[in-house]
Amino acid sequence: MNQDDKKRAAGEAAVEYVKPGSIVGVGTGSTVNYFIDALEPIKSQIKGAVSSSEASTERLKALGIEVFDANDVASLDVYVDGADEINARKHMIKGGGAALTREKIVAAIADKFICIIDDTKHVDVLGEFPLPVEVIPMARSYVARELVKLGGDPCYRQGVVTDNGNVILDVHNMKIQDPKAIEDTINGIAGVVTVGLFANRGADVVLTGTENGVQKIAD
Ligand code: 5RP
Repeated sequence: MNQDDKKRAAGEAAVEYVKPGSIVGVGTGSTVNYFIDALEPIKSQIKGAVSSSEASTERLKALGIEVFDANDVASLDVYVDGADEINARKHMIKGGGAALTREKIVAAIADKFICIIDDTKHVDVLGEFPLPVEVIPMARSYVARELVKLGGDPCYRQGVVTDNGNVILDVHNMKIQDPKAIEDTINGIAGVVTVGLFANRGADVVLTGTENGVQKIAD
């Protein structure tokens, strides 16, 4: 079983959490693409989705699943999304696909965050994967200097403009021992739109695709 098979298994397992008649929060990435594909056979049983990126919106619409504006939805039962890294407390690094801000918004609206990953994503300490930070373009250099002061090594993700018209700094060489505190600190830097740390609002359920099937971790 390769990494893609594990992602597919995790994505398909998440369908179990989608309630009939509901609007489902949908994340972004290759694992979520498998989840979206698995929604297709049950699309007549759901109202639709709120999406965290233009890419996911396009895929949902292509399968005939209605996509709602987040402003028109008061609450969501579940938000299903992948992660770049996750620790034992279900804190995550996200944003490898540059969709972190909209992902954080849809996650905030949802009652439950279902994280779907393959088994390479589990870590003891977050930070081996470069931490994405979405930044207002005019603040890029200032924010980079502030991230250096925090001990990181920020790198401008060349050629990437987010769905919100901003840029991404990927912070290398940060061992994130206290994810909630680092999330608050980086979010407090002027010009930062959001940091890709999901610790204050972590995952509720983790579905991991492994050689031995999908393993579930829940509260
Ligand atoms: C996108 C994300 C993704 O969830 C994360 O990058 C994982 O992606 P994949 O499922 O392709 O491994 O945060 O911004």
